[in-house]
Amino acid sequence: MKESRMTRLSDLTTLRIGGEIATYVEAASEEEIITAVQQADDDGAPLLVLGGGSNVVASDERFEGVVVRDVRTGMTDMNPNEEGSCCGGAALNVVAGQPWDDVVQLAIAEEWMGIEALSGIPGSTGATPIQNVGAYGQEVAETLSSIRVWDRLERRPRLIALFEMQLGYRDSMMKRTLHSAEAGGGRIWGPTGRYVVLDVNFSFRLASLSAPIRYAELARTLDVAVGERVPSSEVRKAVLQLRRGKGMVLDAADHDTWSAGSFFTNPILSEKAAAALPADAPRYEVRDHTAVRQIGGQAPVVPGLVKTSAAWLIDHAGFTKGFGMPGPAALSTKHVLALTNRGEATASDIRALADQVQKGVADAFGVELVPEPVYL
Ligand code: EPU
Repeated sequence: MKESRMTRLSDLTTLRIGGEIATYVEAASEEEIITAVQQADDDGAPLLVLGGGSNVVASDERFEGVVVRDVRTGMTDMNPNEEGSCCGGAALNVVAGQPWDDVVQLAIAEEWMGIEALSGIPGSTGATPIQNVGAYGQEVAETLSSIRVWDRLERRPRLIALFEMQLGYRDSMMKRTLHSAEAGGGRIWGPTGRYVVLDVNFSFRLASLSAPIRYAELARTLDVAVGERVPSSEVRKAVLQLRRGKGMVLDAADHDTWSAGSFFTNPILSEKAAAALPADAPRYEVRDHTAVRQIGGQAPVVPGLVKTSAAWLIDHAGFTKGFGMPGPAALSTKHVLALTNRGEATASDIRALADQVQKGVADAFGVELVPEPVYL
């Protein structure tokens, strides 16, 4: 276990903002993580467990708590040996600290289907179930099977099955422990929730072809119709190309990628609220991705709800690409949904920009944007 008192949150987050850390622990084993978490909980100190640091908006003030970075890696194929049957699919166990994109690359190489559209997403695997990471028509809800966590309330390891996770659009029971005392077993947790993810189990269908393409923009890039399947490696290539075009692939030299990805979730509105938006505002179906469990299976539509586009609302409220330039905090020049650090931004600069955008969208459209990253 490496402990240091010199690290700053700006060194650990993709927005590259944030102040000093009172206690910083780099945990290289499960025992070290649990020890650090228990110590923080015993001391009543705020706890932040970090993977890739891509979903955190830090503060400039010193973090008077414990930051634990999970630096463990490991991906274990849980399938029977060659004589055994694996026709039911593939099972993979991934240690929480493992960078997510390594899992995608392994799955494509092994011809395991279902996460190819989730290529190029920054962050660690342990973070993916918490907000049910999704992009380009896929969500991890479709391939997760269970997670093993440290339960900070009961102070023991626990296995959480897929159905207990209550996954929704960028949401889970685990994430709700950050703001709901009911989900948290009587108290509100944070900045890390009640459950510290130790490892994640996936189950995949076997196929070299991708799952059916569900996202129109991706289908256009691949030059296929929505619903068609293409080799997963081609999906990866196309997704990486799209993500790069939007500044959503980390690149130290490109300030458009000094961000926390999409800063706001896409608002989910009642049909009545959606009807009040301008006629040309995007309106998407809301789908339940936990119900995708068969080849060709499509997530069923959730009735009564309409998803609109945070990016569209921001753009049409007058915050166009590059708003805030030359900085220090500005909207990405490639995609208005990314708030970016142009090099010298402080946490207050990013927060002020986020507040301004939120207020502008509320004034223009009466919609309250919800930040996706965790605020410290
Ligand atoms: N748009 C604008 N201005 C812009 C960009 C987009 O008006 O600068 C409008 C366009 O009308 C466009 C619509 O917004 O059609 C949607 O944009 P896009 O297809 O880029 O998707 P998104 O809704 O902004 C979501 C996810 C991304 C995911 C992409 C692709 C959320 C909050 N964001 O973005 O996820 O990669 O779809 O599936 O759900 C993330 O969550 O961090 C993330 C990157």
